[in-house]
Amino acid sequence: MSLFRKKPISAFEDDMKKSELKRVLGKWSLTAIGIGAIIGGGIFVLTGTGAYYHAGPALAISFIIAGIACVFAALCYSEFASMLPVEGSAYAYAYGTIGEIFAWIIGWGLILEYAMGSMTVAVSWSGYFNKLLKMFGIALPDWLTQDPGSYTGEGFSMNLPAFLIVLFVLSILVRGTKGAAKANNMIVILKVSAVIFVIIVGAFFIKAANWDPFIPAVANVMEGDNVKEAYGWGGIISGASAIFFAYVGFDAVSTQAGEAINPKKDVPFAIIASLLVCTLLYILVSLVLTGMMNYQDFNPKGAYPDAIKAPVAYAFDIAGQKWAGYIITIAATVGLISVLMVMIMGQSRIFLGMAKDGLIPSVFSKVNPVTGVPTKNLTILCVLIASVAAFTPINKLADMTSFGTLFAFTMVCIAVWILRKREPNLPRNFKVPALPVIATLGIIINIYLMMNLSIGAQLLSLSWLGLGVIIYFLYSRQNSKLHKS
Ligand code: ALA
Repeated sequence: MSLFRKKPISAFEDDMKKSELKRVLGKWSLTAIGIGAIIGGGIFVLTGTGAYYHAGPALAISFIIAGIACVFAALCYSEFASMLPVEGSAYAYAYGTIGEIFAWIIGWGLILEYAMGSMTVAVSWSGYFNKLLKMFGIALPDWLTQDPGSYTGEGFSMNLPAFLIVLFVLSILVRGTKGAAKANNMIVILKVSAVIFVIIVGAFFIKAANWDPFIPAVANVMEGDNVKEAYGWGGIISGASAIFFAYVGFDAVSTQAGEAINPKKDVPFAIIASLLVCTLLYILVSLVLTGMMNYQDFNPKGAYPDAIKAPVAYAFDIAGQKWAGYIITIAATVGLISVLMVMIMGQSRIFLGMAKDGLIPSVFSKVNPVTGVPTKNLTILCVLIASVAAFTPINKLADMTSFGTLFAFTMVCIAVWILRKREPNLPRNFKVPALPVIATLGIIINIYLMMNLSIGAQLLSLSWLGLGVIIYFLYSRQNSKLHKS
């Protein structure tokens, strides 16, 4: 049936030969792209929520669980990337295995991860930027830093810094991938140094008593006006969902496969290496944080009502090391630029793949012959991202980014297994060891984390996917290249 038509593997090879993208990314630049996308605001912000509302000091175990969920998916992404080094990531993998309608829905779901992720990152960048300005005694008026939905004053308002940062990133991306990768490399060095700094300096302020009990007994906490059960193993698992956003991004490496010099070998390496480095750093940061500050102190109704908003900086503040908070603010402000850069780059390459297949308009598939990047695609995307970030309270929907990501992870675990059965002899540079076990665990754990996201995020994300199905039947199905041929 035409809904389940699959793109032949040979067609991917043809696409690769015809690709106008420039192959400029080596192994380490690809790894830096992974780290560039992963380490962002998540680790500096969500750790307080994770500790107080979910896991207590056992937050480190939540990070391990979320990390394992990602490793399963990362292995599956790697096997695919070693066979089909094309730019569409999970969308392309699904097109070659489970069929067009699934590929479309995954591609549509990836918009939640990449485009919507970029919007929320632009808004959190604006928050850090304002903090940085305040450190230098400059305060922008509220009407220039808040979207109309969040602004409580009268008259016009917009989040101008969020708008401008997206345009700034666009100006880097349109010049070519090589330059963007160089900028990313520098930012990654800076932010990894900042995280290591937090770990080493913070370790001096750990009080072992804060880790006791490491897994607090189940208890009720107030989240706004609602009573919520926290801690124990249930809290550890829901904590893994709550902090999952901090891991979002490593799969962006697979969207750059079309620009990798040696994609079949280097993309799998970069996916796994970037994830492992960040998992280790995250576990250590969460241990240090809950050692420095008692998890109960993140209670927004307690002695430190603001601690939960910027937990890492706050913990240093309380330890009498205010300057460390400045370093974190600078690192996050600069660091988030690379998250934004990689996410927008990733979204544009997924759109490029979808447009080449005819599922979205062809304007997204035009590559500038001089720079080797899809300029029009990037421009449309960035204007959209900048506008939504500036004029809507999109950051309230950040959980939808995690939903889109977990959905794609689940599908990739399924698809890699299908292809292994269907085409066992296809050359693979990387093979997932014990695939049935890893894929099954990957599917279970990713669905479980998805189900632990807020109900609101689940319903909105499912509605988004439903909208995607309608668009598929109205536009994409008829315009699909496979359909036409
Ligand atoms: N993982 C990225 C962050 O934490 C998206 O900001």
